[in-house]
Amino acid sequence: MAATDLQRFSNEEKRNLSLGGHVGFDSLPDQLVSKSVTQGFSFNILCVGETGIGKSTLMNTLFNTTFETEEASHYESAVRLRPRTYDLQESNVHLKLTIVDAVGFGDQINKDESYRPIVEYIDTQFENYLQEELKIRRSLFNYHDTRIHVCLYFITPTGHSLKSLDLVTMKKLDSKVNIIPIIAKADTISKSELHKFKIKIMSELVSNGVQIYQFPTDDEAVAEINSVMNAHLPFAVVGSTEEVKVGNKLVRARQYPWGVVQVENESHCDFVKLREMLIRVNMEDLREQTHTRHYELYRRCKLEEMGFKDTDPDSQPFSLQETYETKRKEFLGELQKKEEEMRQMFVNKVKETEAELKEKERELHEKFEHLKRIHQEEKRKVEEKRRELEDEMNAFNRRKVAVETLQSQSLQATSQQPLKKDKDKKNFFSLPSVCSITSGRHVN
Ligand code: GTP
Ligand code: MG
Repeated sequence: MAATDLQRFSNEEKRNLSLGGHVGFDSLPDQLVSKSVTQGFSFNILCVGETGIGKSTLMNTLFNTTFETEEASHYESAVRLRPRTYDLQESNVHLKLTIVDAVGFGDQINKDESYRPIVEYIDTQFENYLQEELKIRRSLFNYHDTRIHVCLYFITPTGHSLKSLDLVTMKKLDSKVNIIPIIAKADTISKSELHKFKIKIMSELVSNGVQIYQFPTDDEAVAEINSVMNAHLPFAVVGSTEEVKVGNKLVRARQYPWGVVQVENESHCDFVKLREMLIRVNMEDLREQTHTRHYELYRRCKLEEMGFKDTDPDSQPFSLQETYETKRKEFLGELQKKEEEMRQMFVNKVKETEAELKEKERELHEKFEHLKRIHQEEKRKVEEKRRELEDEMNAFNRRKVAVETLQSQSLQATSQQPLKKDKDKKNFFSLPSVCSITSGRHVN
């Protein structure tokens, strides 16, 4: 076919053709249904509300079963997310249901950060899905999708207004999850008060710009019921797994001394409306909205954060390959810069350490010289002392020898004494002048 023919053909409008007989592609929707049924479905509900507000009871009532549950204490130091997954089957449809409880919500003295663990949990589920999508070998077909499809926000039936904790939390969550607000334990509030309370809640949500989930009205089959139900939001619900005999029928209800509140009686509460909207009419829309709106937003922000763009600065299409190449170059450049910085840092560090070591060495050397000088001085002093002592010792020895000589002379002298005495006696009488000098006295 010539190029001009091709161009003409593509520019032509699509033509409607009638078929000569049955071809069979009208079974495509059935094929899709059959495939989906075989594959099974997953649905994930997040329950946010104060401890003991009736979350578990409502879940049991909604799915008409008893999920394992334990009461939360009022002393949790922070909000904690507790997911539990169950396999349910109705007819031939398998549902993997995950119920996530925000345990300890509203129990902390400082509630500023109460929303954070919830937001983080929702983001983590989106991130896990994105990581699976970005894998080379993806297995999204049998991937357990844990992304939150709906958040049931349990409002305390005060009859006054929303608490700031409710407004802050819903505001933080509304771009990440489909929020359906419900007034819990609606049997504890009177009919007229409930009516006013609903109006108050809706006006507060609007004035604070909180986007709650709106039941879709674009599908003709459900447009009417959904638009009616949108006007009933927030649903005021009562939960109970207790069965009470009303007439000759056993119904789920809460029994009081003054009467019975029937869970499935639409004039008593909005439980039936909630079940209808959440499970029977809009479950698929909630799943779809999660994927096409909330997850898409998360994915876009995340990819932009990672540097991916659809167009370049001149608004020209920018392929993934080009983005990858640009990013790679940027990354390599940065890596080199970092490497150079590290090397420089290392060299500087080595120089610093070298200088420090040299300084230390010099100090040590000085110390050594100083000590050496002191030591020499000490040695000189000791040497002097030694010499003095030696001199003293010599002097002493000389004196000792002299004394000894004197002693021996005096001993000798003593032994010759009688002889000398006689001699002296003679001399005494013959030499008076000498005698007087020796004794120091004059003899009369
Ligand atoms: P935690 O998981 O411990 O935070 O509690 P929860 O929010 O799951 O509350 P749970 O369902 O355990 O109910 C707490 C108490 O509230 C129980 O005594 C329930 O019987 C009661 N309760 C539950 N739903 C309702 C209701 O709709 N109305 C009234 N009046 N009481 C309810
Ligand atoms: Mg519970």
